[in-house]
Amino acid sequence: MQRVLSGMRPSGKLHIGHLHGVLDNWRRLQETYECFFFVADWHALTTNYENPCTIPKNIAEMVLDWLSVGLDPGKSTLFIQSDVKEHAELYLLLSMITPVPWLERNPTYKEQQEQLADRDLSTFGFLGYPVLQAADIIMYKANKVPVGVDQAPHVELTREITRRFNYLYREVFPVPDVLLTRVPKLPGLDGRKMSKSYGNAIFLSDPPPSIREKISTMVTDVERPRKSDTGDPERRCVAFNLHRLYMPEERLNAIVEDCKSTRLGCVACKKGLSEALIAYLAPIQERRSALASNPGRLSDILKDGAARARSVAIKTMEEVRSAIWSHSVR
Ligand code: TRP
Repeated sequence: MQRVLSGMRPSGKLHIGHLHGVLDNWRRLQETYECFFFVADWHALTTNYENPCTIPKNIAEMVLDWLSVGLDPGKSTLFIQSDVKEHAELYLLLSMITPVPWLERNPTYKEQQEQLADRDLSTFGFLGYPVLQAADIIMYKANKVPVGVDQAPHVELTREITRRFNYLYREVFPVPDVLLTRVPKLPGLDGRKMSKSYGNAIFLSDPPPSIREKISTMVTDVERPRKSDTGDPERRCVAFNLHRLYMPEERLNAIVEDCKSTRLGCVACKKGLSEALIAYLAPIQERRSALASNPGRLSDILKDGAARARSVAIKTMEEVRSAIWSHSVR
């Protein structure tokens, strides 16, 4: 069976953008591949080294979300990066063969430094971010790496580092393919990309009253200030992007008609949307609270995942050491 590996930095509670953009895809992949999904807590440290105390709580919140949407520890190996120290050794060894210009050329390097201008990211660890990512991926001899387009340059670098390793020492690793995740258009409450840092996100764990409150603030068709004006959801109604996800086809058609004919106003329309989303999230939230009330279960799942990951990592590292050292006369 082919292997899939992907990871997420522990950003805390996940929102519906993560669900439709990443998690739905991971959940599907676990049916056809041997999957490894992990929490990239060392990667989080590359940008948050001044304030690491939030990371452990964020890990727990994120993994709760993973499990509640149906990532299944019986099918996939779920673990925390720093529980598998072999990642650090492989990262070190790959750093020996990675030319610095490859890293300086990495588009996310400059971009992130500019975007996170309040932090000092002129560190060795931040420059080496993609080398650590390469170690994460090839440790498990992953064939496919599902990521969004923003991460594609990192997978490309992984491919280059892998080829270089195989060429210098021995053909230990398959060169992994990127599996580009098509992210459905899911704007946040204000129409910008949904993101925790923009404060425009609906979280998977938001309770019903806060979902109602948030959706009521969503921008609808700006060319329809009054209910008596004819609307068009296809024009620029931000809320309608969510209708597409949570409303059954027949309801969707009726909503379009009623909006155009002024029968349905935006306030009532968004109330219907809130209820549909609340119903959609209900089983997810039920699973989440069952898990949250049993923290021992979460730590067992992660311990077991780390043990499974480590058994693969230990074997890989034996091959890596033998490939490197067999070249020297000792
Ligand atoms: N850099 C990725 C992100 O920010 C997280 C990540 C770390 C990752 N290692 C990985 C993703 C390996 C895929 C494969 O989203």
